[in-house]
Amino acid sequence: GEARLLDRFGRVASDLRISLIDKCNLRCTYCMPADGLAWLPRNRLLTLEEVLRLVRIGVRDLGVREVRLTGGEPLVRADLVEIVAGLRAEHPHLPVSMTTNGVGLEAKARALAEAGLTRLNVSLDTLHAGTFEKLTRRAHLNRVLAGIEAADAAGLRPLKINAVLMRGVNEDQAPDLLAWALERGYELRFIEQMPLDADHGWRREDMVTAADTRSLLQRTHLLTPDPRAREGAPAERFLVSRPAEPDRILGTVGIIASVTEPFCADCRRTRITAEGRVMSCLFSHEETDLSALLRSGAADAEVARRWRAAMWVKPRAHGMDHAGLGAEDFVQPDRSMSAIGG
Ligand code: GTP
Ligand code: 5AD
Ligand code: SF4
Repeated sequence: GEARLLDRFGRVASDLRISLIDKCNLRCTYCMPADGLAWLPRNRLLTLEEVLRLVRIGVRDLGVREVRLTGGEPLVRADLVEIVAGLRAEHPHLPVSMTTNGVGLEAKARALAEAGLTRLNVSLDTLHAGTFEKLTRRAHLNRVLAGIEAADAAGLRPLKINAVLMRGVNEDQAPDLLAWALERGYELRFIEQMPLDADHGWRREDMVTAADTRSLLQRTHLLTPDPRAREGAPAERFLVSRPAEPDRILGTVGIIASVTEPFCADCRRTRITAEGRVMSCLFSHEETDLSALLRSGAADAEVARRWRAAMWVKPRAHGMDHAGLGAEDFVQPDRSMSAIGG
């Protein structure tokens, strides 16, 4: 078969996002319910060996060029460091990154760096303890900040910070977050909230759009489009300076406009959930179970064939932005963000 993950619209998926666990130690309102979400039993999770096997098939037979570990919260997975080490030992040139909420990172950052983790994105929506607790339903802001510092000290760079802005919650804190990130040399990205919350409470009218974010930041900073190529990355990047000294670049900031300026046409992603199912898109309603195949003794070639078939039917786009398509036509997937992996 073809050695790539190709879809009907000519896109090639070379970035693999693999969720290691559905559990999380925070309960962010845009991602999870306060309680009542049933965790996968441990024996349903992909094992270390199964993760390594899927990545082997992806890299060798399907053109995967980059792997990102996600969750739930990947740090909750006890054998995370072994997984990173295993991936890097087998594929010395494969970039292996991770997206985390930072809780528990303080204790693991050095081991992750030593195991060969390439880089890290940490979610942080606010620097205020009260807002953090309201948003995540947990009082762990200091643990996240300590985790970020530890990652920095361990040399896990470039370090990116993800912030989802919400009207009336943390929107007004965007300039503070930007100043904080610039001071430390972290690349902050502001993300439009997508309808992937467990409570199905997302409303387009409540969303802080990329345009809103740009004008918010432009009150205090000057944003110049980053001349570096975007290459299918979700973030549109800007060089940041102060109006008084426009030529002194303080750093970069990104804006991820998944809803209002979608990048689906350039999407390079293939996703595997914690229980081993391929999701061709964040919003796809189809899932292809590879775990059952792995566990029934299927050959690598058969696993590759099923993975290719799953990606071939990747939707053209999520459709949230369609002119004339109202909220009533877009069907939010059953899975919340935590069960997909972001
Ligand atoms: P980098 O390679 O560091 O740029 O990673 P990334 O930004 O792709 O990954 P990260 O996990 O940090 O995701 C940042 C934000 O982009 C999250 O809010 C994701 O949900 C969103 N995002 C990631 N992948 C997709 C995608 O395929 N489609 C859409 N619409 N949003 C995505
Ligand atoms: N919309 C946009 N981004 C989200 N994330 C989680 N839920 C949503 C959502 N509904 C972000 C997290 C994390 C990344 C994996 O996805 O903040 O940075
Ligand atoms: Fe890719 Fe689907 Fe995300 Fe669009 S919504 S960028 S197609 S994963």
